Amino acid sequence: MVLKGSVTLPGDKSLSHRAIMLASLSSDKSVIENLSSGQDVISTRDCLAKCGMDWNQDGERINIKGRQFISPEIPLDCGNSGTTVRLLSGLIAGQQIKATFTGDQSLSSRPMDRVVSPLQKMNAKISSTNGKLPVIIQVSDLHSIEYTMPVASAQVKSAILLAGIHAMGETIIHETVPTRDHTEILLSALGYPITTNGQRIVIKGSNTRHPGFHFHVPADPSSAAFFATGAAIIHDSEVIFKNMLINPTRFGFFRSLGMMGAQVDILDHWTELHESVAHIRIKSGQLHAVHIAKEDVPALIDELPLIAILATQAEGTTTVEGAGELRVKESDRLHAICINLERMGAQVTEHTDGFSISGPTSLKGIHIQTFHDHRIAMAFTIAGLIADGETTLDDSDCIAISFPEFHNVLNYLTLN
Ligand code: S3P
Repeated sequence: MVLKGSVTLPGDKSLSHRAIMLASLSSDKSVIENLSSGQDVISTRDCLAKCGMDWNQDGERINIKGRQFISPEIPLDCGNSGTTVRLLSGLIAGQQIKATFTGDQSLSSRPMDRVVSPLQKMNAKISSTNGKLPVIIQVSDLHSIEYTMPVASAQVKSAILLAGIHAMGETIIHETVPTRDHTEILLSALGYPITTNGQRIVIKGSNTRHPGFHFHVPADPSSAAFFATGAAIIHDSEVIFKNMLINPTRFGFFRSLGMMGAQVDILDHWTELHESVAHIRIKSGQLHAVHIAKEDVPALIDELPLIAILATQAEGTTTVEGAGELRVKESDRLHAICINLERMGAQVTEHTDGFSISGPTSLKGIHIQTFHDHRIAMAFTIAGLIADGETTLDDSDCIAISFPEFHNVLNYLTLN
């Protein structure tokens, strides 16, 4: 079996969340195409609809018109989505409404004080429940802050920026390690007074509302990474991803894939609302180990399960460090990666903030414990392609959280 073909994948999840949120702030009509169809993005759409946002689906596009925000009558259920609750906390804190955020079991166990604490410093009346959900917001007037990020988190940074839009004065954020910068890019493309200088980001609060916009969401590189991994580990594979987001803060996985020995070519590139987009081609190659250091982690945070799978097929010992944040994702991903790979026969050692994996080793098919985590389910489906014997998942429904089309695309690429 090989992976072959050319695909245009659904829109990037991070950009899809942000596009809906920014569209909800404009009273003009915005049109978004190629929105992610994952359940997480539906959670964002439905939460904002409860706060008054108008939307309708028009074939492949979604039309959105913002209105004056209203306090939702029922709690905003963010499902499994950390991006929904954290970014909306910042956005809603500046809208003079009351709201309560809830979520599923996984989201309810994830840390919320990282976003509650800086928003409180901005004078938001916001509280968590022992650091977790439910998070409750009351009406308040925000003022600006200067804030140094204690954890590298684009979600926290974005929450502060979205609150900063309507806060009095200049909100200044210092990042110690750069994280995905989609919020900055989109706010600037829409005309907000935001500047980035190295790792210092400044947004001026104002009462202006931006005009409606049209955005074709580029394909999700985190979704492409699953098939790119398949293509890299299965000899003679060649896959082209069309219209894919190649923002450097998201391209870390593809940079590492190239360093490991797979062929990664950017065929053509352009921009879409200031975001870099390209057609890219991946071909299999002789893989060797890489070292992923703390400062490399944010640009491939969601792809680390795939780096682990690649590492099992690479010559030498791959090490990942400074990735403790993986323990507080949709599951404890360091544990989920290591326990499943070990049972598949890989040589793996789990560390507090990373792992080391020596290869190459052949993998055997097992029943995967997904911990109901979409990225673990998809990553191990790809590992299963090269395993001896059958690989099964204890939950494949969770894949719909980010990528309901995953199996269709995999079938298409393996049948070509
Ligand atoms: C995201 C940021 C990252 C990432 C998540 C999406 C975003 O989370 O893991 O899947 O859209 O801002 P953190 O900010 O918690 O690292």
